[in-house]
Amino acid sequence: MDNFKPLAATGLPARVAKLSALVPRGEAVAEAIDEAEAGWNGFCLWLAAASGIDIFAYKLHQLHQRLVIRRQLAGVESWADYRCHLLDRPQAFARLRESLVTSVSGFFRDPEQWQVLEGRVLPQLAGGGPLSAWSVGCAMGQEPYSLAVCLNEAGRLAGSKLVGSDCSAMAIEQARRGVYRSALEKTIPERLHPYAQAAGDAYALCEPLRRAVQFRCEDVFSRPFAGGWDLIFCRNFLIYLNEGAQRRLLRRLAHALRPGGVLFVGRSERVTQPEVLGLAVATPYLYRRVAP
Ligand SMILES: C[S@@+](CC[C@H](N)C(=O)[O-])C[C@H]1O[C@@H](n2cnc3c(N)ncnc32)[C@H](O)[C@@H]1O
Repeated sequence: MDNFKPLAATGLPARVAKLSALVPRGEAVAEAIDEAEAGWNGFCLWLAAASGIDIFAYKLHQLHQRLVIRRQLAGVESWADYRCHLLDRPQAFARLRESLVTSVSGFFRDPEQWQVLEGRVLPQLAGGGPLSAWSVGCAMGQEPYSLAVCLNEAGRLAGSKLVGSDCSAMAIEQARRGVYRSALEKTIPERLHPYAQAAGDAYALCEPLRRAVQFRCEDVFSRPFAGGWDLIFCRNFLIYLNEGAQRRLLRRLAHALRPGGVLFVGRSERVTQPEVLGLAVATPYLYRRVAP
């Protein structure tokens, strides 16, 4: 995989030192999973440093279940041996890194949510003019591209700032290419017909649509992010995070909205106690920033 670097070049020792601060949390979770799982905690620390993904933000018991299967398939018994196995096999490590997070998405995913966004929320945002929107965990870009289509049809795309970010390098590479295999997206969604062309067993988005969205490969937990957004998408991502990480991320996202700005979460996701974060519920999945 093209973003794989030899571990020596990753600044691993410094990052392990930084991540050691996470040991107590890791230990607590590891103990809860299985006292006999010696080495799991150390493996997690190594994996977080080597992958650049703060895996301690996720529901570790889910990760543990998936990794046990992977380790068994690799034919190794212990976490220490599995680490050696991965160190010797950069491609296996790269595949494992990609599998840590799930990049399933789709254009206009959960259409009833999009109808509400488009019909009731977008017209009020940014005085009906160009707006700034960020899709956190945008996978292969379908979410910000869907928004670009809405804005284009409303005559608001020019001057809007649309950003998609994801920690998966493969997903971001595909988002930038804007090419979708038909196996992934069975046919060209009707709404995309004016913006896409069939290309063999795939279809490709037209250049103006691709140019409308900037993509960044970054872990949302790894650095501070800019504020002043009119709209932030954080959909079908919170469910993978543990409670503490959900809360930390939601607090930061709420503050990154401009007053009146809207946070859009997934169909099965909720913000508990939104008022504490300065948010008011518009619908169970759309939250408006009310605090200055
Ligand atoms: C299930 S997809 C959701 C895609 C899209 N938001 C949607 O609802 O269709 C979750 C995405 O979050 C990304 N993700 C997970 N952890 C992340 C992190 N720490 N920083 C940035 N993106 C992350 C994954 O790579 C994945 O592409």
